[in-house]
Amino acid sequence: MIGEMKVFAGSSHPELASQIATYMGMPLGKLKVTRFSNENIKVKIEENVREADVFVIQTSAVPVSDNLMELLILIDALKYASAARITAVLPYFPYARSDKKDEARISITARLVADLLQTAGAERVLTMTLHAPQILGFFRIPADQLLATPVLVRHFKNSDLSNSVVVATDAGAGKVAGHFAKGLGLPLAIIDKRRFDDTEQASSWALIGEVHNKDAIIFDDEIATGGSIQEAARILRSFGAKRVRVGATHGVLSGSAIERLNNTDIDELVLTDTIPISQAKMTALRNLKVLSTASMFSDAILRIHGGRSISQMMECLPA
Ligand code: R5P
Repeated sequence: MIGEMKVFAGSSHPELASQIATYMGMPLGKLKVTRFSNENIKVKIEENVREADVFVIQTSAVPVSDNLMELLILIDALKYASAARITAVLPYFPYARSDKKDEARISITARLVADLLQTAGAERVLTMTLHAPQILGFFRIPADQLLATPVLVRHFKNSDLSNSVVVATDAGAGKVAGHFAKGLGLPLAIIDKRRFDDTEQASSWALIGEVHNKDAIIFDDEIATGGSIQEAARILRSFGAKRVRVGATHGVLSGSAIERLNNTDIDELVLTDTIPISQAKMTALRNLKVLSTASMFSDAILRIHGGRSISQMMECLPA
């Protein structure tokens, strides 16, 4: 086994980092982040990390690019402080939606982020529910993806599912939503959603599957502007869905998401805590429930440190 395990956290999501450390029964490593008046960032590791197996938790949250830069500087500081191995733990992967060259002369920025993490000194990556699983292939180092499915399945299993159907917001989400539907023992319907440009506006036309008089549970990887959910809820109601519930992993909640979601006919909205959600947003959003992913990350970190399987964690969906 590799050296002593240590867990450090950047400033993006202190609550999640401290919950992960609590589950692991260990304190977070000591460090100091200084932001200078010229906006430069300095990170000082304030304890010995020589030959340690170090995990660094930093999610993608506003300010996204500053938090990414802070993570890179933190990893670099750990590398030059002689850590034996550094694993970057990214509950929400930065720039995950920039994962393909769908226009001329643009950057595949998720791949650039992968390059930057490796250049800084990360030797492993742990993340959750990528926008596209192919992002794992951007790395030349081992990268593990957790799915929040077990956490969300457990939540919805505690309700009456006798007349329910899981709905994917588009064909691309069909595979992950199918995994969720399997965990709940429910059928799957798919919305035909198309996005024509980069305006973040999507349009839906059709529905594959049966939702009439049923309780629909929309399942998606993230809610950013809320446009996809608004459109999905509208189309589900027009096809006769009785109730509309929503489960998504990442609560990006950008732009006018709060207003849009509050103006959408949704009976329940369930997100996880991979991204911090401010108290103001929590209060403003009706019917919101936030589920913790801390125990999953703590379990995965312990498994990586001990050389045990991560995929086994995804096999234990409740029957
Ligand atoms: C789309 O491909 C994704 O699965 C999500 O539906 C999308 O990222 C959500 O974005 P928004 O809330 O802005 O519609």
